[in-house]
Amino acid sequence: MKILLTGASGQLGKALMAQIGSGDLPAGTHHLLPVDLPEWDITNQAQVFSTVLEWQPDVVINCAGYTDVDRAEANEKEAFRVNALGARDLSAVAFRVGAKMLQISTDYVFDGKAATPRREYHPVNPVNAYGRSKAWGERLVRETNPCHFILRTAWLFGEGQNFVRKIIALSREKEEISVVADQFGTPTSAVDLARCILRLLQTESYGTYHATNEGECSWFSFARGILALTGIECRVKPVTSRELARPAPRPHYTVLENYMLELSGLFRFRHWEEALAEYLQAEAGTRAQERKARL
Ligand SMILES: NC(=O)c1ccc[n+]([C@@H]2O[C@H](COP(=O)([O-])OP(=O)(O)OC[C@H]3O[C@@H](n4cnc5c(N)ncnc54)[C@H](OP(=O)(O)O)[C@@H]3O)[C@@H](O)[C@H]2O)c1
Repeated sequence: MKILLTGASGQLGKALMAQIGSGDLPAGTHHLLPVDLPEWDITNQAQVFSTVLEWQPDVVINCAGYTDVDRAEANEKEAFRVNALGARDLSAVAFRVGAKMLQISTDYVFDGKAATPRREYHPVNPVNAYGRSKAWGERLVRETNPCHFILRTAWLFGEGQNFVRKIIALSREKEEISVVADQFGTPTSAVDLARCILRLLQTESYGTYHATNEGECSWFSFARGILALTGIECRVKPVTSRELARPAPRPHYTVLENYMLELSGLFRFRHWEEALAEYLQAEAGTRAQERKARL
């Protein structure tokens, strides 16, 4: 299988790179072409088309994204160029060479007003620019390539900037940190999502999927979970979204139910707490190795 992976240097891209060649997609069964900024730009239509037409992948995994939710509020057009038009171009040219298209989307396509987990068929209604650009990207992928997988995920933690690393860094500097307690979702391991992606790609079970770890929490309880598992002493103060006043409004409740995955029996995610414990253990191991190397 020939796989074109965009956004390869990002959090999910890195998890996929690590996972390809081990476990679900053994070495020798695939050719991988990883691309990312600054050499490869999804908003450069000519470059997107020539890459796919020349390399002729069997599968395109689009992890490239304009992911800064707050910055997107003032830069909505740029967010749309990357998350919607870029996704459309990749999807259209993938269709031309007969490749499957896998697009990563987000829980932020929902407005967060419901009090129960969202299923794939529930109507989207984004409340911020990032969510609008991702929702439109989903739609353009559906319109341009019938052989698509659209995976909505949430609150990713992997190799890169993420909430877990931010909380650990802040808690080492401060005695008390304030964390939002009125937004609910599901933290998701980038490694677990990568495994799910590789499983789906080997099927023809096309469509839209919710793909998060199991369980739910607020950012506040997520932070408390991180500190409990790392043993760092730091007070966590619950605050409201209103008190924090970020540039982009956030949906309040965007827990996703992995309904399509459950129905098809293709992949089962573990609970986010189990995935977090494994992630923190690996991070601690890496830090210990770095300390040893410095001595
Ligand atoms: N992180 C989350 O919590 C989360 C939650 C739900 C959904 N998602 C979705 O999951 C996907 C992967 O997220 P992630 O956490 O891995 O994001 P990430 O770490 O920000 O990675 C995104 C990658 O895309 C690249 N990129 C940005 N603009 C590009 C362009 N014009 N052309 C080509 N590449 C470009 C980025 O490069 P630079 O770093 O140089 O900009 C980065 O390497 C995204 O579609 C995101 O919307 C993420």
